[in-house]
Amino acid sequence: MLHKEKRNVIVGQSGGPTAAINSSLAGVYRTARDRGYKKVYGMIHGIQGFMEGRYVDLSEHITNGLDSELLKRTPSAYLGSCRYKLPEIHEDEELYKKIFKMLDDLEIDCFIYIGGNDSMDTIKKLSDYAIVTGSEIRFVGCPKTIDNDLALTDHTPGFGSAAKYIGTSVKEIIRDGWSLETEHGQVVVVEIMGRNAGWLTGSSALSKGEDCDGPDAIYLPELPFDVDAFVEKVKGLLAEKSSVVVCVSEGIRTEEGKYVCELDNYNDYVDAFGHKQLTGTARYLCSLLSKEIGCKTRAIELSTLQRAASHCASRVDILEAYEVGGAAMKAADEGDSGKMVVMKRLSDDPYQMGTEVKDVHKIANDERLVPREWITEDGTYVTNEFITYVRPLIQGDVAPVMVDGIPRHLYKPGFQELL
Ligand code: F6P
Repeated sequence: MLHKEKRNVIVGQSGGPTAAINSSLAGVYRTARDRGYKKVYGMIHGIQGFMEGRYVDLSEHITNGLDSELLKRTPSAYLGSCRYKLPEIHEDEELYKKIFKMLDDLEIDCFIYIGGNDSMDTIKKLSDYAIVTGSEIRFVGCPKTIDNDLALTDHTPGFGSAAKYIGTSVKEIIRDGWSLETEHGQVVVVEIMGRNAGWLTGSSALSKGEDCDGPDAIYLPELPFDVDAFVEKVKGLLAEKSSVVVCVSEGIRTEEGKYVCELDNYNDYVDAFGHKQLTGTARYLCSLLSKEIGCKTRAIELSTLQRAASHCASRVDILEAYEVGGAAMKAADEGDSGKMVVMKRLSDDPYQMGTEVKDVHKIANDERLVPREWITEDGTYVTNEFITYVRPLIQGDVAPVMVDGIPRHLYKPGFQELL
């Protein structure tokens, strides 16, 4: 039975940040206020910070419409994020008791968590514990990840803006390569995030159009990467043109399952979910090419830039992220728990999207990869179907609020010290 009088909401952000995650936060906040909740608390650094008693009353931070507009244009997780894996309930029930006591003390009715597949594990476990204990708190997930690898949803907020930045930057890199003639040719290898899913790397093909041929080859992590075949492919390309641009996913692996970035001087940092930090693929491939072919190379790791580039955000993405935040709040308000909001594409042209909710147990810890049929037969490019799928998600712009020539972000004196 739901409480007759609405009390409070708590919202957290978790996992890798994006250019759109704060727009979802703004959507949760606005909807909670519109639906009559008294306070909206924000967890500082997600569930990890909350367990340490770190949270804020968001109404002290989002005080007017301008704050909300700036929040939508501010990259990174405004509240701070975490990569924290809750133990199984039977492993540490005391911890769950502690979390629920804290939530009860704050008179929380709805708990909204904005995150990716690992973060949905938190919603899954907390909503399971609520059932076991008969707690009436509703736990709902709001999807977010540039990787676009969440199950059961057409796409994830954050992906469209990162894809737009990648398509734009790769086009600029290709253009730059045209300008100089280099003896033996030049190869640029662009390394793109996405872990084991190639949605972002495939989006480099968005650079292709009337005025640009697009990258010369694209390697996704869904297929094994053959290092020798790669060198041969680049040799062939250099025989035809002097400037070659190849896009590779940070997560490409050899037939034996070894990440290419592990083939050389590997950085062995692993997070709480057991994910290795993937970095250095482009650097490794560039040194290999210069050794094997003797050409000039340049390794470009788009790294943080691709998920923080709110100056190049997609309008569709920022608006959808806001809507999805609102939909998560609405679902919790109407009694859903143990669910995540998913996006349902109604049509490509005109592009139309709706939302519904799905069982988080079918989403947490799963990875949705690029289907084989959206990768070309030879495994070195994406198909037109892939492009048709991504193109609507990168449409439109969100003009940054420029101050002294630089985009303005939401900044509240004193808040940064809480992070
Ligand atoms: O999960 C999103 C993501 O951006 C991945 O694409 C990437 O592998 C990872 O985060 C990097 O995370 P971090 O910044 O914590 O190293």
